[in-house]
Amino acid sequence: MIPVILSGGSGTRLWPLSRKDHPKQFLKLLSDHSLIQETLLRLRGVTEQKPIVICHESHRFKVLEHSRQINQPLEAIFLEPVARNTAPALALVALQKIALGQNDPLLVLPADHRILDVKAFQEALKVAEQHALTGALVTLGVEAEEPHTGYGYIKRGGKNGNAFRIDSFREKPDLSNARAYVESGDYYWNSGIFMFQPEAYLDELQRNEPGIVVACHKALCSLREDLQFLRINEKAYGSSPSSSIDYAVMEHTRKGVVVPVSCGWSDIGSWTSLQACSEPDSAGNVIKGKAIVEHCKNNYIRSGHRTIAAVGVENLVIVDSHDAVMVASADHVQDVGKLAKQFQDSS
Ligand code: GDD
Ligand code: MG
Repeated sequence: MIPVILSGGSGTRLWPLSRKDHPKQFLKLLSDHSLIQETLLRLRGVTEQKPIVICHESHRFKVLEHSRQINQPLEAIFLEPVARNTAPALALVALQKIALGQNDPLLVLPADHRILDVKAFQEALKVAEQHALTGALVTLGVEAEEPHTGYGYIKRGGKNGNAFRIDSFREKPDLSNARAYVESGDYYWNSGIFMFQPEAYLDELQRNEPGIVVACHKALCSLREDLQFLRINEKAYGSSPSSSIDYAVMEHTRKGVVVPVSCGWSDIGSWTSLQACSEPDSAGNVIKGKAIVEHCKNNYIRSGHRTIAAVGVENLVIVDSHDAVMVASADHVQDVGKLAKQFQDSS
């Protein structure tokens, strides 16, 4: 299997640490390694194949630097001149592999997830690979714990070895549907970690979003190789419809297979999801860096160079960076992206 790391998101919900030119995959949020480094490190022992990274062209040196810091050679870094979401990004890689006469399964990994149990994750990949080799489009499914509307929901179908056929796939349902899915017990969350052969993916994409295949094909015809960097033509790639693999392929395919996995997975999509990744103190506070607190409960406090001092506050997220301090109630962390936009517009 060939790892393909998607590193294109802007992650504005983790503002003020995450910025357009320094998104969350390059932040050391959970350990001494950045999220992209953790993504690469947890592949050790899984495959000898060097990973491919696909990112915006402005992040190319960051990707290189982060992979070099952990001595991880990369096969290539595809550089997107504009973002067109994940379906076209993966089409570029799949088309290039086909052009080279290769059909090894691609293991698609977001660059910004947390996985606690690496062994369980790696075992699930072995199962996924067996199914991918039969032409299935495989995803790792995580137990759906709450009606989160930011995820894809996978309805389990019949058993297929140690996995299940996907009966249906719904990307980002509304809250009432998400509730019904979770209550039924028949659904998994889509982890966003996929495995499939390039041909299997392109066949499904061609059926549902042929415009993406045409645009990506054109873009590859004018690919410019610059050492490890593969520069994509802006005009051709920019003409592609913008869509995610979830909407463009997984909601339609009849070849979907889900491999359930319990590996302490988390999409670090907001400050509170990051808070949930850390052990709180006896008052429920998670404190990173320097802080003084009195009568405070259930807060996430992350200081930069300054000390944060708080008294009598509950359920807040307080994050200090070099040029902004963000204070949010835990109920509103999904709106932090709006602050990031206002900040950018005003500076
Ligand atoms: N190269 C590239 N180009 N990468 C991209 C692009 C792009 O245009 N857009 C997004 N990505 C990367 C992100 O950086 C992230 O690593 C991954 O692709 C998924 O994109 P998100 O934007 O984070 O998707 P999501 O979280 O809303 O939804 C996806 O992930 C959920 C689990 O975290 C879907 O697959 C859901 O079904 C899934 O539940
Ligand atoms: Mg995400």
